[in-house]
Amino acid sequence: MTEPSATFLLFGATGDLARRMIFPSLYNLHADGLLPDDFLIVASGRSEMDDEAFRKDVDAALRKFLAADRYDEAIASAFLPMIQYQPVEAGNADQFKALAERLDGRAARGLSVYLSTPPSLFAPTAQGLADAGLIQPDTRIAMEKPIGKDLASSRQVNDGIGALFDESQIFRVDHYLGKETVQNLLALRFGNVMFEPLWNATAIDHVQITVGETVGLEGRVSYYDGVGALRDMVQNHVLQILSIIAMEPPARMDPTAVRDEKVKALRSLRPMTDETVKTHSVRGQYTPGAVCGEIVTGYADELGQPSDTETFVALKAHIDNWRWQGVPFYLRTGKRMPARQSEIVIQFKPVRHSIFGRDGHGTGLEPNTLVIRLQPEEYIRLQIMSKRPGLERQVRLEEVTLDVSLTAAFAGQRRRIAYERLILDLLAGDQTLFVRRDEVEAQWTWIDSIIEGWKDANMKPSPYSSGNWGPSSAIALIERDGASWHD
Ligand code: BG6
Repeated sequence: MTEPSATFLLFGATGDLARRMIFPSLYNLHADGLLPDDFLIVASGRSEMDDEAFRKDVDAALRKFLAADRYDEAIASAFLPMIQYQPVEAGNADQFKALAERLDGRAARGLSVYLSTPPSLFAPTAQGLADAGLIQPDTRIAMEKPIGKDLASSRQVNDGIGALFDESQIFRVDHYLGKETVQNLLALRFGNVMFEPLWNATAIDHVQITVGETVGLEGRVSYYDGVGALRDMVQNHVLQILSIIAMEPPARMDPTAVRDEKVKALRSLRPMTDETVKTHSVRGQYTPGAVCGEIVTGYADELGQPSDTETFVALKAHIDNWRWQGVPFYLRTGKRMPARQSEIVIQFKPVRHSIFGRDGHGTGLEPNTLVIRLQPEEYIRLQIMSKRPGLERQVRLEEVTLDVSLTAAFAGQRRRIAYERLILDLLAGDQTLFVRRDEVEAQWTWIDSIIEGWKDANMKPSPYSSGNWGPSSAIALIERDGASWHD
């Protein structure tokens, strides 16, 4: 691995993501002494502004978005001078020249570029950097999603960047991979001997992945409408979680080994057809209702017009390989759900033979369930069977829970923003937690099959009242198979 980049060049620096996540993460890394010596942050946006005005904005964002106990005047006054602001608009060669002058040879000492702009600006920005002589062999470029809106457009984005950067220099961000709990899935599966032998179709009945949000559009109308939950959440975050759950064990924890296995799992997703899409997928859109005790408006009201964009999606996916043959993966994600709750449920099969009576009937025997809660709480719970104390001749069983709260187990450890890990890895040049081009393309290939199916079958979103887990057809999707969503 090469030296960490000493310069972080951020495009889209006046945007929402920069204010909410990127600057607070950089501040935290600085506060913990994790940034390289002589570190410089060059922030760039379209607005004309001087360094001081921009630092004031960053300071306001830090006060607003850092965890309450993190903001510290002394740390902020050491951090803010590390930031310089340079107005740059894609396509403006003079501004890129001015940027190069400002960087004054630092690109040769390791430069990490972060594109937090709309994807249409990725290629022109990269070209501007190239023309200004800012791309060196160890320059790294990070890109935020969305990378395209389907396979064809994602290829265009990747080709545009790929013409100027080698894949080893490209860091595609999926912030879910920066979450401790998502990384912990690797630890759980491959750092313990007890799960892996059972992690397959012999022992597992089905898998559920839920990513529920209580928020609605949050003023993101121009981005979200026409995109919807399938592209916004499933194409990236949900499929990344699925790939980690479904992958074969990588030989080692390195970017090639890990991503090779993830992409194999993604490529094994069975494409949906015009027929299966009708029974294996549900689209929903929220209507007025109550979420966590608060009355909220519907999507169309927030938008100001009717729309065919889905704010909820539920899917029944199959992974066609040896390990997962016949094991459905039920996926669901949506906005205006009853709770902000992301979890993975591994539902095991019933015991092969019940010694407690016919099929365990009447004894309380239930299959084991492993619940991995990713957020807001972080825990792992394993439901196992136990004998109910008592002197009855007939043994009675009851479910008890092996309960590991990760928050409690690692009490005293600060919960980090996902971007802290990702920025640190970008600076260090470690791609393990970034998405490789073939992964993005495998994700889009499967998503495209669903979008085409919806189009051909003319499937519009069904309404659901805010504060519910989607339309009732989402419940039917899993109950038809004799299972139910984990409560
Ligand atoms: C983003 C989506 O990628 O992830 C948003 O664009 C969504 O719509 C967000 O709200 C959820 O992230 P988190 O970390 O809050 O679960």
